[in-house]
Amino acid sequence: MVLRLEGVSKRFHRGHETVVALDDVTLEVGPGEFVGMIGPSGSGKSTLLHLAGGLDQPDAGKVFVGDRELAGMSIGERARMRRREIGFVFQFFHLIPTLTVAENVELPLTLDGGSDAAAVREVLERVGLTDRADHLPGELSGGQMQRAAIARALVARPTLILADEPTGNLDSATGADVLDVLTSQVADAGASLVLVTHDANAAARAHRCLHLKDGKLTEQAAAAAPRGARRPRRTTPLKAR
Ligand SMILES: Nc1ncnc2c1ncn2[C@@H]1O[C@H](COP(=O)(O)OP(=O)(O)O)[C@@H](O)[C@H]1O
Ligand SMILES: [Mg+2]
Repeated sequence: MVLRLEGVSKRFHRGHETVVALDDVTLEVGPGEFVGMIGPSGSGKSTLLHLAGGLDQPDAGKVFVGDRELAGMSIGERARMRRREIGFVFQFFHLIPTLTVAENVELPLTLDGGSDAAAVREVLERVGLTDRADHLPGELSGGQMQRAAIARALVARPTLILADEPTGNLDSATGADVLDVLTSQVADAGASLVLVTHDANAAARAHRCLHLKDGKLTEQAAAAAPRGARRPRRTTPLKAR
């Protein structure tokens, strides 16, 4: 199992108000699985991804990445795990504007005290950004920025990709393009993908779909025939670090 949430709840306090963002959520994501997540705005989708990636902690319940419970890790261990085992893709890219595309992509490695120019080159080629490696993010189109962010999410060969509405800020053709890059790279690298999306076409490509409403999870087969968990394939593996 790549990701497991057991009875996870999360509340936020706003003044005297308490918002239940997640209410007793249990889910498992297997190796190579592509899980779609849909639900109205405010239903807890981003909160779920943040908890899954150790960016925030639940009030109740347990989160496991691989066989390790996040609550048992130190802050440093959690940060290391995020850089090595999890790739995040956000709606607004979150690229660092003063770093080149190649430097942004290499960041998970450099923050970990490493570097791997060959891995950066390879992943940039795979997302079609070789000719933009030395550009600053501000010189890219939205679709190119998201492809750079995907390259950054993949460079450390994580086992789990968490993508929060990655096409939400792109026009539909560019979004479809970016989604192709994300799903094919994830499939090739054998990683699992949890994709939060408002896009019905994107959700239909998932192996299965989770619905969140008021912090509660219900599961429903995707429109496409669910294929279930697949064994990781390594047809075009990223270079080992
Ligand atoms: N840091 C926070 N402080 C207070 N409330 C929050 C915070 N993060 C999320 N919430 C609230 O929790 C609920 C779920 O939010 P979120 O997970 O962002 O939903 P979604 O991503 O599905 O739109 C919403 O009511 C939101 O306002
Ligand atoms: Mg959100």
